[in-house]
Amino acid sequence: MEATQTAPQAAQSAVALRADNLVKRFGAVTALDGVSLTLGGGEILGILGDNGAGKSTLVKIFTGFHQQSGGTLHVHGEETLLRSVDHARALGIECVYQDLALANSLSIYHNMFLNREIVRRGPFRLLDHKQMRERAAQCLDDIGVHVPSVDLPVERLSGGQRQAIAVARAVHSNARILLLDEPLAAMGAREAALIIDLIMRLKEKGGLSIIMIMHNYAQTLDIADRIMLMQRGRVTYEQRSANTSVAELMDIVRREYRAMRATTVH
Ligand SMILES: Nc1ncnc2c1ncn2[C@@H]1O[C@H](COP(=O)(O)OP(=O)(O)OP(=O)(O)O)[C@@H](O)[C@H]1O
Ligand SMILES: [Mg+2]
Repeated sequence: MEATQTAPQAAQSAVALRADNLVKRFGAVTALDGVSLTLGGGEILGILGDNGAGKSTLVKIFTGFHQQSGGTLHVHGEETLLRSVDHARALGIECVYQDLALANSLSIYHNMFLNREIVRRGPFRLLDHKQMRERAAQCLDDIGVHVPSVDLPVERLSGGQRQAIAVARAVHSNARILLLDEPLAAMGAREAALIIDLIMRLKEKGGLSIIMIMHNYAQTLDIADRIMLMQRGRVTYEQRSANTSVAELMDIVRREYRAMRATTVH
């Protein structure tokens, strides 16, 4: 009895991703200047920070798109150099970018199975539309995303619905670590609420650890268990969401901004 109670807890608390002292240089530009973080199992970590702070670069290292110039990564406890996006995917790391990479003229169900199409048995390897349709509908239903029909082309959906399909696709491919780079950018309040609800439902289902890059402090504190502030390639503040506030975060950023002006204005 005791074992069944403690096992899921142990799985939840294991570290999904750990970065130690990551450095990333692009020629003369140092985009990351020694970034360390841990992402707990089942945790949502929100990353905040100015334009050019290095947030996307960090996420692109986690997706295997960029390789770090220095520092180490542990994925599910094992030291790993992520060689490519496919390598990261094989380890259960999926990313949803702001420019979504959905095929707009294709149907919802087709997008859900893009590059992973189900084919029928037999010599002709025909696409199994029936099965893809049913599975796509089931998957969307499971995570509470409502669309009129999975046959609709993606271009007929709103921005929020499209983002939801992209998240559903990532989750459906057995993601264990989900990276969201500004999932609410350019969204109205209603669409943002749709995605926030979806993220919260995924958290409740368990088994998924999430890093979200966000710009809105209040929304981030609402969703994330923990927040991290990045400034000029470094982590300058880290705190559990419950222990900080929008006012405190704004204060930190304001102080930094003033300090920068003091050094650049003569
Ligand atoms: N492929 C690249 N080649 C050269 N420099 C790059 C490249 N990608 C990012 N940079 C530089 O690295 C720094 C960090 O960029 P990054 O995109 O990570 O910032 P960000 O925090 O995501 O900003 P934003 O909030 O505007 O999306 C910037 O100075 C940027 O110009
Ligand atoms: Mg970015």
